[in-house]
Amino acid sequence: MAELWVDPARCQGHARCYMIAPDTFRIDDEGYAHVIEGRESSYEEEHVRKAIRTCPERAIKILGA
Ligand code: F3S
Repeated sequence: MAELWVDPARCQGHARCYMIAPDTFRIDDEGYAHVIEGRESSYEEEHVRKAIRTCPERAIKILGA
């Protein structure tokens, strides 16, 4: 099953994902994004899709898609 994932090697902490979809992404103490536990399959929701598109580093991936 496909799941949403933030590539830690690409994330630079722009936080646009969090601003668009705070129900799906959280920002850690160092400023990097992670998918909130339980939200790994939310990639088809419109605001999550927008967050994926908006990341300037293209750090948000859909694994297994
Ligand atoms: Fe990182 Fe992109 Fe979000 S750089 S904090 S995944 S907007």
